Amino acid sequence: YKSTTVFSGIQPTGVAHLGNYLGALRAWGQLSASPPQQFDHTIFSIVDLHALTAPPAPDKLREYKRISAALIIASGVDPEKCILYVQSDVSGHAELCWILSCFSDFGHLNRMTQWKSKMNLNSNSSVTDEAVENLRLGLFAYPVLQAADVLLYKATHVPVGEDQIQHLELTRHIGKRFNSSYKTKVFPLPEVLLTRTPRLMSLRDPAKKMSKSDPAEQSRIMINDSPELIRVKIKRAITDGNSSVSYDPSTRPGVANLIDMVAGLQNRTPEEVAGDVKGFSGHAELKDFVADVVTRELQPVREKFERLCRDPEYLDRVLCRGAERAGVIAQATLKEVKTTVGI
Ligand code: ADP
Ligand code: NA
Repeated sequence: YKSTTVFSGIQPTGVAHLGNYLGALRAWGQLSASPPQQFDHTIFSIVDLHALTAPPAPDKLREYKRISAALIIASGVDPEKCILYVQSDVSGHAELCWILSCFSDFGHLNRMTQWKSKMNLNSNSSVTDEAVENLRLGLFAYPVLQAADVLLYKATHVPVGEDQIQHLELTRHIGKRFNSSYKTKVFPLPEVLLTRTPRLMSLRDPAKKMSKSDPAEQSRIMINDSPELIRVKIKRAITDGNSSVSYDPSTRPGVANLIDMVAGLQNRTPEEVAGDVKGFSGHAELKDFVADVVTRELQPVREKFERLCRDPEYLDRVLCRGAERAGVIAQATLKEVKTTVGI
């Protein structure tokens, strides 16, 4: 019998949108809630050290940490059954990150697609001196900190979206290199638990993904939007000139995006939902239906989120206890690592 540990992290970047909810938060809730408990330990981290790679204002960051805790609990994570804590409250992340950085090769990090996309700031071929001046070591080393996050708890399973698979491969690579360097098995090599959800697109431009960095606020549905605002945003969503209703993400991305939202929220396939709505008379009827579903499904999440936000003392208590429990596991791993390397 080998014990299993799930670990995942989310950056404190403010209130989540529907894409964040379907793509990450809800999966966490399902992992922690579904009886019987599938895993021995479930650990969720609000990764504020990662957030420093694009530093928000200090007061904002402090506020976002509580907001993240409220979002995670409102999404169904039970803090009694899981460990929920803030990354910087456990000093082992930064310590292990340094040790692991000594086992991480530049070439591998240089191939990370997220890093490469930041490198091509100005052109798609050569990188200008100015671009390099503005690139920070923290951004380059980000995947090593992620590896430290996961390995610090000897996680065996990591729920992530498709875009993070490459980083988890790096985590396995670093863990394996550490183990083989010292002929130990300190680190189990974690497996991906792929979160299969549709990537939601912007309501204003279905060629772009729904994102909080999009300046157009009407492009995304926020978890705490009122039912009226949800309806307005969906009513104004860009679709296409074909008044019929059909599911075809490549030629009709706007309509497909609305169907994907319903499918995601109802845990059904887009094809099933498309079957239900194909008799609709036009986009107005479709949008009314989608607004009803989104409003209904998000209502309990929004209400719980708002209730939690009114109780910061409770959130602080949860995070404090979470940090204590995470710290115990982290210290045990670090002690083992330090003994292994001789420090
Ligand atoms: P954002 O683009 O809003 O800043 P992040 O990059 O911080 O979002 O992603 C946070 C989490 O939400 C990740 O797990 C990511 O896969 C998920 N996510 C973000 N945007 C979407 C989307 N449009 N559709 C589905 N999942 C998303
Ligand atoms: Na982002």
